[in-house]
Amino acid sequence: MEQFFATCPRGLEGVLGEELTALGAQDVRPVDGGTGFRGPYALCYRINLESRIASRVLWRIGHCRYRDENDIYAAARKLQWTQWFSSNETIRVETAAIKSPLQSLDFVTLRVKDAVCDVLREAEGKRPDVDTRAPDVRIHLFLTADEAVFYLDTSGDPLFKRGWRSATGEAPLRENLAAGILKLAGWTPEQTLLDPMCGSGTFLIEATLMALKRAPGMNRRFGFEKLRNFDHKAWETLRTQVVTQENKSIKSMSYGHDRSGDAIAQARQNVAALGLEPYIELKQCSFEDSKPPTPTGVLITNPPYGVRLEELEVLAAWYPKLGDILKQRYSGWTAYILTADLRIAKIMRLKPSRRTPLFNGALECRLFKYELVAGSMRKVKEES
Ligand SMILES: C[S@@+](CC[C@H](N)C(=O)[O-])C[C@H]1O[C@@H](n2cnc3c(N)ncnc32)[C@H](O)[C@@H]1O
Repeated sequence: MEQFFATCPRGLEGVLGEELTALGAQDVRPVDGGTGFRGPYALCYRINLESRIASRVLWRIGHCRYRDENDIYAAARKLQWTQWFSSNETIRVETAAIKSPLQSLDFVTLRVKDAVCDVLREAEGKRPDVDTRAPDVRIHLFLTADEAVFYLDTSGDPLFKRGWRSATGEAPLRENLAAGILKLAGWTPEQTLLDPMCGSGTFLIEATLMALKRAPGMNRRFGFEKLRNFDHKAWETLRTQVVTQENKSIKSMSYGHDRSGDAIAQARQNVAALGLEPYIELKQCSFEDSKPPTPTGVLITNPPYGVRLEELEVLAAWYPKLGDILKQRYSGWTAYILTADLRIAKIMRLKPSRRTPLFNGALECRLFKYELVAGSMRKVKEES
């Protein structure tokens, strides 16, 4: 049994834990920012290939108690780096810390890099080069107040890079955040999905891939392929098995609107890259002119949010309209709005039935849920 840690956008730890359990992980322990789990080494192939919510899968290779950088250097020197990779691979060391007493994380990162290089030079007569942009091997150091944990990153590029995005619009959502939100919303392929401000189409594409049971990692490479223990045969067998589990066609239909012609063109390009045209209908249309494509369904969207004062003022004037359209035209629907603008709930004059804190990168957001039952308009009026 090996120990792993899967990272994810904050707020998705619970749904990530459920997903990992379904993929065969054991002792699943969600904490802030990810989920620890155990399993045989080959489980990391499956999770990298099939997880829609994880950002990275880290393999725990060692740990120590520490008081200063020298303790961490000494522990890193004792690890058998040569069993995992050779001095021909480029490396990068990254450090994350919670409550660490160390003065400089850059310095401890450097010490770990030195330890790895020293071990490989002694064994092979040559030290590996550092490549901070596209390294072959990523080493992660995680520090708490008195414990240091060493990980090898089995993902390489973060897993939200699915390998299909050829075009991006304004502030595209990370694919794993979109997939996690679909899970939080409890969306199932039998329900109509509408994103009326779809931008590059991330929600629609992730939903359709879910409905098709297509593994999100089919079109990309992974960090574990660069490690010495890479089992090419097991990996190819897994990929073949996962392909045969795909649904060849589905009835499910998703709808995307955006007022920007460029955004719709980009969404079309992304949809076409995956051959998803039969399942996603895209139309240039503003929300103000939109109509629900079916009597009931799930609306999931992340509207534009402002940073500058003028933008915030324009949005504040627009939110009541957004709320009115939801109430007037979308009764029978359930709506989810992801936004970093926490004023929206008040200004829209619509009472959310749930608010879930989520992070889009470093940006704190809320996912607001609205049950748009017929008569909600009257209720709001009565309340006010
Ligand atoms: C934050 S982006 C959405 C990004 C999208 N989730 C993605 O992953 O690419 C907001 C989108 O809303 C669109 N938009 C802004 N106001 C709109 C309106 N009134 N009606 C429809 N779309 C609108 C913008 O063109 C932009 O593409």
